[in-house]
Amino acid sequence: MPEMRLDKFLSGQLPKISRTGAKELLKKGLVTVDGVIVKKYDYKLDPEKSVVAVSGERVTYREHLYIMLNKPAGVVCAVRDKITPTVMELLPEELRRQGLFPAGRLDKDSVGFVLLTDDGELAHRMLSPVSHVPKKYFVRLEKPVSDSVCELFASGMTIDGGEKCLPAELEILSPKECFVTLHEGKFHQIKRMFEAAGNSVIYLKRIQIGGAILDEELDEGKARLLEENEIKSLISCKQIF
Ligand code: URA
Repeated sequence: MPEMRLDKFLSGQLPKISRTGAKELLKKGLVTVDGVIVKKYDYKLDPEKSVVAVSGERVTYREHLYIMLNKPAGVVCAVRDKITPTVMELLPEELRRQGLFPAGRLDKDSVGFVLLTDDGELAHRMLSPVSHVPKKYFVRLEKPVSDSVCELFASGMTIDGGEKCLPAELEILSPKECFVTLHEGKFHQIKRMFEAAGNSVIYLKRIQIGGAILDEELDEGKARLLEENEIKSLISCKQIF
């Protein structure tokens, strides 16, 4: 790992600490590197190997953040919005960092798994139209759904405006409840697919992205960091049924 300046390390890893703030911490003698107090702001360290602590508390180095948010209804998947609250505003202080954005969108009234990250490369690989990372949703419908809709979805249906969809999997759970797995992300796609099939979506929750499953313990509006294996499974899993 290339060397990094200590003030850059601190401002990048600590929420709400600017370069100036980092220099203050250093000046006050609150920062140790490998157990030794360091006051030089341009001290060079290996971020992956050096053990940095502030006031005795270890600062774990993370090049990027990968956050699972259980989005509630009424917030939008955007970095900022003049009118509506955004997913970013739900993040607790310790998970905030410059450059975070929602990798993929859910509608304002949809709920469930939203990935927030500052890793543009991973987001690009996940969202690219050629990657087809599966996304699984729990859907509640206005009217009972029939087996023929499974075939329709599997065939790659055409929705309003003549847009052709990739084959999608539909698993019926009860007359008005099902799972749907998409391999792409067109605007309002599931709602439009059911409208085209003569039905209406009344509740939509994303429960899985790639192989990463929404944590059932995570209440709506709450967020946590993804585990290492969950980060890997975001892209690697192609088949989830
Ligand atoms: N399909 C929709 O219609 N809405 C979403 O939020 C996600 C998928």
